[in-house]
Amino acid sequence: MPCTVIVGAFWGDEGKGKIVSYLALKDKLDICVRTGSVNAAHTVWMEGKRYALHMVPAAFVYEKCRLLIGAGANVHVAKFLEEVEATNVKNRIAIDSQASIIEEKHSIQDKTSAHLKGLGTTGWGIGPAIEERVRRTAKLAKDIPKLQPYLTEVSKEVNEAIDAGEKVLLEGTQGLMLSLFHGTYPYVTGRDTSASAICSEAGVGPTKVDNVMIVFKAFMTRVGAGPLPGELAKEEAIKRGWFETAAGTGRDRRSAPFDFELAKKAVMINGATQATVTKLDVLYPECKGAGTFEELPKDAKQFIKEIERQTKIPVVLIGTGPEALDIIDRRK
Ligand code: IMP
Ligand code: MG
Repeated sequence: MPCTVIVGAFWGDEGKGKIVSYLALKDKLDICVRTGSVNAAHTVWMEGKRYALHMVPAAFVYEKCRLLIGAGANVHVAKFLEEVEATNVKNRIAIDSQASIIEEKHSIQDKTSAHLKGLGTTGWGIGPAIEERVRRTAKLAKDIPKLQPYLTEVSKEVNEAIDAGEKVLLEGTQGLMLSLFHGTYPYVTGRDTSASAICSEAGVGPTKVDNVMIVFKAFMTRVGAGPLPGELAKEEAIKRGWFETAAGTGRDRRSAPFDFELAKKAVMINGATQATVTKLDVLYPECKGAGTFEELPKDAKQFIKEIERQTKIPVVLIGTGPEALDIIDRRK
């Protein structure tokens, strides 16, 4: 803090929602800006209740945090309104007037366009919505009557908050390997997902960022098509307890062991300064609920140390269970 960017390292679903919700509660965030769009579902467990958030920033769990959606985001109006209701954040959420709108027609185009066939997109219409924005024909948040009560200038709010020393978090979506520029093209999403792009979507310059926190999951997963180095057969994934289904689409997640080369690439391109590792308890069940690094079994400690050795950045947060507060916090 004051300005931290959260990014995913692999193909999304690393557990950014959990990390953001933890930081919101623990560090008492003043502002959280969500970027990207409705294709990304961020899972937050709060007091036994599960939220899979497609629009509302995961920091909603801290009731004093101001929640913003950046100018680079694509807003799904119905989903936004539904989630604002479900999380009860009406009086503290706002959208940049220039955020663009993702519509039903984009979803239909996503599912029927020949050029998107076989990519395994989420079907929400991200690619077509972004194409429309590039054509300069997209609707913006300011054009939508139902969004009038929520409009703001996110870049102004955020930069003023940073200048005032407030704690700001920029919540990235997906992961580096799904980046339009740096990922496994063409099996990628419709935008860059790196830290620089997240800043750009929020309207924050690179000199204003103090910290880029990269989120690794203890193993890798991917939904949709495209390469996944070291991919396991589904039966093996089930046997290891790694088999997951997607929070957003319910599809099977493919899985593979942690890849150090990809991890290093993700750290490099994001300029990451700190790492977090989620789901260590899935890899090493003895870790479940552990609150300190010392409690971890030897092989789990070694795994964390190997990540630090290879990426050359410290692993500051370690997830040991699904709830927001199931975290080993090694920050000073
Ligand atoms: P799109 O973003 O819907 O265009 O899908 C492009 C690719 O990105 C597909 O492989 C999707 O499964 C993947 N993808 C998009 N959003 C997410 C996400 O939030 N988590 C994981 N994969 C995603
Ligand atoms: Mg997800």
